[in-house]
Amino acid sequence: MLVKAVLAAVLAPVAVTAQLHQLAVNAGLEYFGIAVGESAVQQDTTYRNLVNDKREFGQLVPENGQKWDSTEPNRGQFNYRNADIVPNVAKQNGQLLRCHALVWHSQLPGWVNSGSWNRQTLQSVMEVHINNVMGHFKGACYHWDVINEAINDDGTWRPSPFYNTFGTDFFALSFRLAKAADPDTKLYYNDYNLEYNQAKTDKAVELVRIVQAAGAPIDGVGFQGHLIVGSTPSRSALATTLRRFTSLGVEVAYTEIDIRHPSVPSSASARVTQANDYANVVGSCLDVAGCVGITIWGFTDKYSWVPGTFPGTGEALIYDSNFNKKPAWTSISSLLAASAKPTGGQPITTLTTSTRSAVITPPPITTTTTTPAAPITTPGNGPEQTRWGQCGGNGWQGPTRCQSPYTCQVLNPWYSQCL
Ligand code: G3I
Repeated sequence: MLVKAVLAAVLAPVAVTAQLHQLAVNAGLEYFGIAVGESAVQQDTTYRNLVNDKREFGQLVPENGQKWDSTEPNRGQFNYRNADIVPNVAKQNGQLLRCHALVWHSQLPGWVNSGSWNRQTLQSVMEVHINNVMGHFKGACYHWDVINEAINDDGTWRPSPFYNTFGTDFFALSFRLAKAADPDTKLYYNDYNLEYNQAKTDKAVELVRIVQAAGAPIDGVGFQGHLIVGSTPSRSALATTLRRFTSLGVEVAYTEIDIRHPSVPSSASARVTQANDYANVVGSCLDVAGCVGITIWGFTDKYSWVPGTFPGTGEALIYDSNFNKKPAWTSISSLLAASAKPTGGQPITTLTTSTRSAVITPPPITTTTTTPAAPITTPGNGPEQTRWGQCGGNGWQGPTRCQSPYTCQVLNPWYSQCL
């Protein structure tokens, strides 16, 4: 009974100090967010409560609801029942909304996919769709993924009704239509496997240049970040790749991160590798001045597209399927906390002169802990936090002492950590 009471007292503050978005903003990013599944958020209270935690997730994106097959399943018949679910949650909570996705070869209704089009007829269909959908969400979307996944992994243009009809002219056309429909949202090209800086990345650079050369508006490139544990590029390699795009004058963001284990169940050491991979991805965004934010594609392993698409793999997210934080959560929060800046000023522990540069990288996690362990209670002295655990900071109500040999080190006003 007493043990239960002590544990509850110790664990309760941990549950209410979720703070990834807050830490990301303090580190100079615009947001830390997640994709939200329309069914899960309606049916699972634990899931919904975490989604509602704005300090943890300051930005949401609908996982499926805004796609073409959901919004215009039949020509000219628009339906926003599913599409409105996540935007309504974001509105209620005051969270930023990324909107996804307008022109994409997948989740395209049969009438578009198998229609017989020429430039005139398909342009009219695109115009009606973009005007209607962007019009419905006008003013609500911080970003819109205008074109999604137009490039094959081998660096060739992907066939689709759009490419097959217009060739590369559909790029500028889509961005122009989007700008006309909602001039105040940021317009993104979004794709996966850009992180490896190979032929596909070269082609995405070409796509941005084509849009710009046509005089059409493009604001950003989304790196989806569907990656694999142990095969994720290094922080500096990722930053180099991001800079290929910011040097073109567009911003970048990670828009759909998940880092899957090649086989599951994962081992404790694989979860540590995953934590370091997540830290490298987030760190690369901190290192690049034009990288504005981080979105994870879901947050709990309970709901993820990964095992369905890549059977035998998974556990790709930062909370396990019981909603416990994984080492990846700890590595991200530690990294963000270590990069915090005082409001309007320079990083507290400045090593470089960039406006938002890598400041301090916590040493890679080498322990084999699965979930940050509950603090240990020492009779008479109060609870002790384990290595890597939070032990102080503005608003922190948890343990302030560290398990030997670690000491509580003040990283910034918001975060002290047992190191
Ligand atoms: O809604 C129907 C339901 O009515 C039906 O009974 C059921 C039977 O299969 O299917 C349901 O639709 C599924 C939908 O997710 C909603 O759950 C589709 O089959 C399924 O294919 C679809 O998968 C989504 C996938 O995109 C489709 O391409 C995933 O949830 C979603 O996470 C995934 O997200 C994509 C991004 O949009 C773009 N980048 C890659 C990313 C991962 O694939």
